[in-house]
Amino acid sequence: MSDTPVAENRLFEPTADFASKAHVPSLEAYKELHARSLADPEKFWGEIASELTWLKPWDKVLDESEAPFYKWFTGGQTNITLNCIDRHIQAGNGDRVAIYWEGEPGDSKVLTYQDVHDEVCRFANTLKKLGLDKGDSIAIYLPMIPELAIATLACARIGAVHSVIFAGFSAESIKDRVLDASSKAVITADGTYRRGKELLLKNIVDEGVADCPCIEKVLVVQRHPEKEPFAHDWKEGRDFWYHEAAEGVDSVCEAEPMDAEDMLFLLYTSGSTGKPKGIMHTTGGYMVYTYLTSKLTFDLKPESDVYWCTADVGWITGHSYIVYGPMQNGVTQVMYEGAPNWPGEDRFWEIVEKYKVTIFYTAPTAIRAFMKWGDQHVTKHDLSSLRLLGTVGEPINPEAWMWYHKLIGSEKCPIVDTWWQTETGGHMLTPIPGAIATKPGSATVPFPGIDAAVLDEEGNECERGILAIRKPWPSMLRGIYGDPERYKSTYWCKWGGKYYFPGDGAIKDEHDYFWITGRVDDVVNVSGHRIGTAELESVFVEHPSVAESAVIGVPHEIKGQGLVAFVITRTGAEGDEDTWRKELTAMVDKKIGKFARPEKIVFSNDLPKTRSGKIMRRLLRDIAEDRPLGNVTTLADPSVVDSLKAKYKG
Ligand code: WTA
Repeated sequence: MSDTPVAENRLFEPTADFASKAHVPSLEAYKELHARSLADPEKFWGEIASELTWLKPWDKVLDESEAPFYKWFTGGQTNITLNCIDRHIQAGNGDRVAIYWEGEPGDSKVLTYQDVHDEVCRFANTLKKLGLDKGDSIAIYLPMIPELAIATLACARIGAVHSVIFAGFSAESIKDRVLDASSKAVITADGTYRRGKELLLKNIVDEGVADCPCIEKVLVVQRHPEKEPFAHDWKEGRDFWYHEAAEGVDSVCEAEPMDAEDMLFLLYTSGSTGKPKGIMHTTGGYMVYTYLTSKLTFDLKPESDVYWCTADVGWITGHSYIVYGPMQNGVTQVMYEGAPNWPGEDRFWEIVEKYKVTIFYTAPTAIRAFMKWGDQHVTKHDLSSLRLLGTVGEPINPEAWMWYHKLIGSEKCPIVDTWWQTETGGHMLTPIPGAIATKPGSATVPFPGIDAAVLDEEGNECERGILAIRKPWPSMLRGIYGDPERYKSTYWCKWGGKYYFPGDGAIKDEHDYFWITGRVDDVVNVSGHRIGTAELESVFVEHPSVAESAVIGVPHEIKGQGLVAFVITRTGAEGDEDTWRKELTAMVDKKIGKFARPEKIVFSNDLPKTRSGKIMRRLLRDIAEDRPLGNVTTLADPSVVDSLKAKYKG
């Protein structure tokens, strides 16, 4: 991307009209809230938690005795689904639409909160009927159909730990996750659509769990109950159609009382090693934090808003800002199954117009794609219902921000650029619309309760450095499943273990606004999806002709970042570059998923290494971005660089 954030100094104040109706109506109100939240976090979070339903009050809001294994609301009991569903029905809002669902081929469904209650309870009772229970781990591999939200909530209802696997992941990725979590069941669908093409999900699951002895049941939702199912295989005794298993099952299911620190879900994400991490989130703190962030960041008005987050529930954004946060606020939302450009490049705007969406939350990569597809797809639709826009997942370049502001927001909608992570559970840095003026490309200021700073390696505040979170917050990860040491060494490795280290670089400007500069570890953010370079490297070295590889992230016009692989083949390896390239790409598809395919694979006889044998990735990035090379004096063999440069260009 051409423009750099720090050079950006445009400031967009919230309109008086927006501010006057907002939950947090002014900068002063934000400052007061933020100061109060940090001065006495236990009081602040205790008050917020009191707005929700609990089955038993907590004894202590924050327990720091085993830091960095923090605990929140200890002694308290609740079930998050009581706040997502029952509370709204009790308040007389059972008739409010919870989900307007739009299928890619044009089918649609409307579910009220009462419908969601009945469906979740039926699903929950069906899980019980199949022998699943509190504490069991259940994998969910579903497309963006209502059953994805329903199955997720049904697990929470009975106290089972869900592990949602994004339906773009390959069979091998399913296997890794299912084995790591020891999942007892998988919930999937026969199929779904992507750009009009059928995807046979059940068959991918079959392949994924073939060697997973922990899996006892596979529960299959039929995508089109009224038609023939998609092509599929079947294993008697293990596989069940959901609609058959649910026959005659009751639509009332008592919510299982859960301790605040009982695990709610696992969600796998990439780190800097080859093995994805199972991020653990628990019940109470996650519930409170996603409730408040949804309410304030999106200024939710459940009586009138129609909210649409375009993420997939397979990622943390869908967990926190499709399922749990918005539903705890009782808002009406849109859920869409398919691609943004199917059947036309205006599909999103057609949906905004159809449902009169008021709040729209998407990823910068999508915005850049819309820009490329052309304004005509936007301007032919009436988007006047929109009042607030949001972005998530990666830094947004000011050019894309301005396009979003003008074309989609008609220059009147605030844009909330929300910085956060799978690990943080909810928004950490974000403008609070109505209170915080925005700058294109900046995630602006910390959310109430968040003590964020830009630090140098020694822990001193500085202008350009590493982002740190200096106090625990309710929805922080509770660890990495099965690996407490990795939790400590990944997130608490800096600053004497006192502060949380998210792995992002940041700048703090003269207005104390934060600008995220990207990852400082070996994680690449491709279209908002985190991919560890080590994950790809470990795929490549399984190829018999490959001796070694180094993968780096490079700027990409649409995806934000793309992956480039440098591969050293074995001396005397059989085959040619074209064949290897095809084979390696197929291996990525198979072992991770198509979304992790590299943009470019460069074959070479050598890589730039230090005399001690360490690959100098910085030089590889310089080569890929055609920059003058940095210091090469430490290279064992400086001539490698020239030949790589030529190879890269060729
Ligand atoms: C990046 C997605 C800049 C960041 C919610 C972070 C962002 C990683 C932003 C987490 C943003 C996310 N501006 N960068 N608004 N939001 N990131 O776990 O590098 O999929 O560490 O969570 O995405 O990705 P994850």
